[in-house]
Amino acid sequence: MRISFANDYSEGCLPEILENLSKTNLEQIGGYGLDSYSKSAIGKIEQLLGAEPNQVDIHFTVGGTQANLIVISHVLKPYSGVLSAPAGHIATHESAAIEATGHKVITLDADPYTGKLDALTLAAFLSEYWANPEPEHSPFPGMIYFSNATEYGTHYSAQEIRAIRDVADEYDMPIFMDGARLGTALVAEPEKLSFDQLIDLVDVFTIGGTKNGALSGEAIVFTNRKQNYADRFRWTLKQRGGMLAKGRLLGIQFDTLFTDNLYFRAAQHANQMADILRTGLKQRNVKFWTETKTNQLFILITPELKRLLLQDFIFLDWLIPSKQQLSELGLEKSDQNYHVVRLVTSWATQKEAIEQFLNRWDDFANL
Ligand SMILES: Cc1ncc(COP(=O)(O)O)c(C=O)c1O
Repeated sequence: MRISFANDYSEGCLPEILENLSKTNLEQIGGYGLDSYSKSAIGKIEQLLGAEPNQVDIHFTVGGTQANLIVISHVLKPYSGVLSAPAGHIATHESAAIEATGHKVITLDADPYTGKLDALTLAAFLSEYWANPEPEHSPFPGMIYFSNATEYGTHYSAQEIRAIRDVADEYDMPIFMDGARLGTALVAEPEKLSFDQLIDLVDVFTIGGTKNGALSGEAIVFTNRKQNYADRFRWTLKQRGGMLAKGRLLGIQFDTLFTDNLYFRAAQHANQMADILRTGLKQRNVKFWTETKTNQLFILITPELKRLLLQDFIFLDWLIPSKQQLSELGLEKSDQNYHVVRLVTSWATQKEAIEQFLNRWDDFANL
């Protein structure tokens, strides 16, 4: 069987979750997210955020695309769009799920290597939009979206988000941070952004379980920092099919993830495994598309080496760099062709799998 570095949701779930699902299996529990396990999970998340009672609103749903479309369609007015980097998940990998709710995803320029939205570009866009005497001919910029970690495995510091926040406040806009991979972003450099800072920095964010050891599930957190965007959210959650009758499944999983720091320990493991892989690849002079500290690595590889490695491992093609990009990456003199592929480690990755990958790399690279 090939070893997979394709993503961080190839395995089932953390054993603690399976154990708690099994232990509680015959308990008769109320539905739709109002059960005691969901309430307990909410309490634990509130405590970690340092929230006052009833300060934040927390809900659970099954998947990331679902969380994004439900949040965005709930918060936006019918005539509004959402601003995103071109590589933002809602702009690239959600089959126009947001547009299907009637809201345009408006993409702004962003650094193609880091994939990050930056405050200056955002400010320039908004200033130009509002300088137009007839702005109503294009969608109202109603929300700012970015994911943390990004599609390129990079992550934001508090300072970077603060700069986006300042622009958002100037234009009275909410920020939605998609945290499908929030765990790996926060533990990448905890001193640069901590969980409790989110309460002041963004209006709504998700805490991804699916990619961090849950069977599935995302928590949606409205911080209510200025405006109550969560008002009547349960109606939208229900209408859009995101409210699970067996809400216990999500409650038990998040209650487990937020017990004994499991959520962050799982993410730390994924990042540590990525560190080992990154170090091994750097020792082999492999070029990286961008420098990341999370569990996603994007590397340049020749098509031939890729073909050989794919015999024993699974990983995904990401993009084919242009000539100009190859030159920016210092490969202008190479007579080789390169592809960018993504390697992902997870809460379940074993060190031995990485050793095998690096060993096979050596076997093939030296042919
Ligand atoms: C940042 C981000 N948001 C949302 C999603 C969508 O999640 P799902 O596949 O559970 O719908 C993904 C999935 O890869 C993601 O990486």
